[in-house]
Amino acid sequence: MSGTELKGPTRDRYAVIGHPVSHSRSPQIHREFAEQTGRSIEYGLLPADPDAFVASVATFRAAGGKGLNVTVPFKEEAAALADHLSERAGIAGAANTLSFRADGIHADNTDGAGLVNDLTRRWHQALPGAVVLLVGAGGAARGVLHPLLTAGVSEIWIANRTIARAPQLVDLVSHEGESPAAVHAVALEPEALTDLQSKRQAESSRLIIINATAAGLAGQTLPVPVALMKSAQLCYDMVYANEPTAFMRQAAQAGCANVVDGLGMLVEQAAESFAIWQAVRPETEPVFQHLRSSNSG
Ligand code: ATR
Repeated sequence: MSGTELKGPTRDRYAVIGHPVSHSRSPQIHREFAEQTGRSIEYGLLPADPDAFVASVATFRAAGGKGLNVTVPFKEEAAALADHLSERAGIAGAANTLSFRADGIHADNTDGAGLVNDLTRRWHQALPGAVVLLVGAGGAARGVLHPLLTAGVSEIWIANRTIARAPQLVDLVSHEGESPAAVHAVALEPEALTDLQSKRQAESSRLIIINATAAGLAGQTLPVPVALMKSAQLCYDMVYANEPTAFMRQAAQAGCANVVDGLGMLVEQAAESFAIWQAVRPETEPVFQHLRSSNSG
């Protein structure tokens, strides 16, 4: 037996790649998931220069890495890099989860599932039959469109500052076999949104307003009428911050009874990634509560 080295079990290595990435809460989240499920993993930060995504992924993989979470600005590149792309990542045109397997790189997108799980499980929103006003038409909006439709919302109204971008998203899901009637573009202007309000009131439909723009982080409010916000059963900001965002303050001032940020979505999308990698689904609520208390502390 001489010469035989006794080694401890090797730990599966993961990281989040982005630019910038130092602020990411993902290492804390995944470490808590690992503790909770008794899995032995390492999870770190992988900062990459904007033009060095592919090389950074290759280096991490060659060193034995098992998978990566991908954040801004690399989600589109991550999808393009895949040997195997999930359907939802294909529709989103972006991936946030890479798995390195013997048959190549598998890419998936758990953002939309994260939003849907947060809305339904944490905030108890019944999505079937609900009307969603989705503000924004960038990558964040695109990533959640198909999962919201699959979850059964009856209509999605996409409102974007640059009006031409909203119909492009409508086309995207229409081409994927969803009912084109369920998704509409609307101008991000008080008049157009007041019309939406009248229509909705006439139908007595339940409204959820989701902010998929970064306007709130920059302290900017959105031209959404007060009455529309007040009538929503939930106003949801996909971003999260230590303090309520401008969108959340705007919604609360308008009188919306339920106003939340995207911290739960962050934890839920991470749980989906963890499940892809480790084949076990962690509990999200304790991790959400830890983050919330460390955020506000
Ligand atoms: P992401 O991938 O985070 O969605 P993106 O693709 O750059 O980023 O899209 C940003 C979104 O936020 C867009 O819908 C953008 O509107 P435009 O298409 O008109 O640029 C929206 N956005 C950013 N700042 C905004 C603001 N101050 N008011 C309204 N919308 C804003």
